[in-house]
Amino acid sequence: MCKSPLHNFLASLPKAEHHIHLEGSLEPELLFSLAAKNNITLPVSTDASFASPASLRKRYSAFANLDDFLAYYYIGMSVLLHAADFEALAYAYFAKAAAQNVRHAEVFFDAQAHTRRGVALETVVDSFKKAQVRAEKDFGVSSELIMCLLRHLPLSSALDTFGLARGKGYFRDGTLRGMGMDSSEVPFPPPMWTELYEAAREEGIRTTCHAGEEGPPGYVSQALDLLGVQRIDHGVRALVDGDDALVARLAASKTLLTMCPLSNVKLNCISSMSEFPLRRLLDAGVRFSINSDDPAYFGGYILENYCALQETFGLSIRDWEMIAKGAIMGSWCTEERIAKLLVEVEDVVEEWARQFEEQ
Ligand code: ADE
Ligand code: ZN
Repeated sequence: MCKSPLHNFLASLPKAEHHIHLEGSLEPELLFSLAAKNNITLPVSTDASFASPASLRKRYSAFANLDDFLAYYYIGMSVLLHAADFEALAYAYFAKAAAQNVRHAEVFFDAQAHTRRGVALETVVDSFKKAQVRAEKDFGVSSELIMCLLRHLPLSSALDTFGLARGKGYFRDGTLRGMGMDSSEVPFPPPMWTELYEAAREEGIRTTCHAGEEGPPGYVSQALDLLGVQRIDHGVRALVDGDDALVARLAASKTLLTMCPLSNVKLNCISSMSEFPLRRLLDAGVRFSINSDDPAYFGGYILENYCALQETFGLSIRDWEMIAKGAIMGSWCTEERIAKLLVEVEDVVEEWARQFEEQ
């Protein structure tokens, strides 16, 4: 809970989340219990942080950079083997998100990180789907699943995995709403992936891409120009270092940037929360959402990200109304769902604005 008088407002604000890796919501306690259940030996002999959930959590507070985090992230997800493991992981995320008034979530998963360990794609996708259906029924949270491909593996692996998902009909039947790319960034720039995004375009699906997290603003322009993505995940370096023409282009094209402030600080993509380019985003009219990225690793879910911004920038209720509505309008759900969620935001904003004006 943050110290802002707006904390309860932020908690009750209806939210849309667009940048959460389900594997990044694997809390150390669940990681250890699944390792024990599935007879997976964690590398405690070479890394003492794997001694207990507490020591692992402590290590998570000191990542040097993106690749340092990713090494733990891939070891962590190696405990996920069976359908029930994937379903439990996703349902736990939806339960936490719902408790923070997330009303719509677009969630990533890393298909290759599981298939290359011998887990079938259907085991992963069908289990996440089950959790999505339960979350809609139990919490009223709508959601979409986005398959991410890994940049540190060869293009051929990404194309094979894309082809596997296409062959199962997951794009055609809407099980997968779109495709993204993640993992290490700087050595694997957008021009490497044009063939993959061409295949996605032929399939007629929505596309996004992690860009400008550690990489330069030019990677964001390349993702738009060469890959034709509709969204950018992170893009923070474009807002910190990018020129006004790039920022104006993002605003004019209404490209949603799925921003993750706590992640950016924890991975040293920015030096502190005060470097997060919130003012530039708002002033330039760029469409963006605030998200948790890998909440089990970066010290918080979506609300903790909202709170961190509030404590640093002291936003008004009307600023938050703009952020919440922008996020909803950038969602890949139906027009009806968007309209309903916008009304929910207005109701909460009006109630709180009245209370504050009365004081
Ligand atoms: N995979 C999970 N989290 C990621 C991040 N922040 N950047 C790139 N790849 C990721
Ligand atoms: Zn991410």
